[in-house]
Amino acid sequence: MTIVDKENNIAKQEQGKHIFLLGYMGSGKSSIGIRLAQKLGVRYIDTDDLIEAGEGMSITEIFSKRGEEYFRDLEQKTLLELKAYPPSIISTGGGMPCYNDGVSLMNDMGITVYLEASVDELVNRLWSERDKRPLISNLKDESELFGFISKHLSERNSFYLKASYKVDADLEPDKLIKELMLIPGLSENKDSGH
Ligand code: S3P
Repeated sequence: MTIVDKENNIAKQEQGKHIFLLGYMGSGKSSIGIRLAQKLGVRYIDTDDLIEAGEGMSITEIFSKRGEEYFRDLEQKTLLELKAYPPSIISTGGGMPCYNDGVSLMNDMGITVYLEASVDELVNRLWSERDKRPLISNLKDESELFGFISKHLSERNSFYLKASYKVDADLEPDKLIKELMLIPGLSENKDSGH
């Protein structure tokens, strides 16, 4: 089993809280999050979508017109605003846990799950989608992307690993959903009435 439980007795205490999906770009947070929310019958939120809607611009435009620092401030503001939302499945931008101590804030607000993917898998998934992601859109070929992700992931891993649970995001989606459903406290969110 790939689920890691770092704290015992977490289940009851965390019933009905947000479930945050954390991980690198391409780890499947959005696609898995949508399926999980459908299965549990709760609201699905993607922090990048909230930011784009709030700014009336794509993430790429925000980076190019306002810069990365502005985007990281928006991420923190968005995260704080989620405190007012009913318990939801929340797919977070890949950098959100790693700036302004985002991961600690998420740990205070709900159940955090790291979708840990291998660098090979991330390269496969991201190469064709790099245009939508300003941090990797300028890379020339897959070997450059491999080098970038390896280094970037090693810098970010200490933040991702602060999540309460981690699952193997290389698994095919059905298996991954099954693993996620084993996390204590997660299925209690089902039909919470919100
Ligand atoms: C980023 C990840 C992106 C998006 C932005 C920055 C990052 O989200 O927030 O391009 O710093 O890793 P996804 O992880 O949903 O691609």
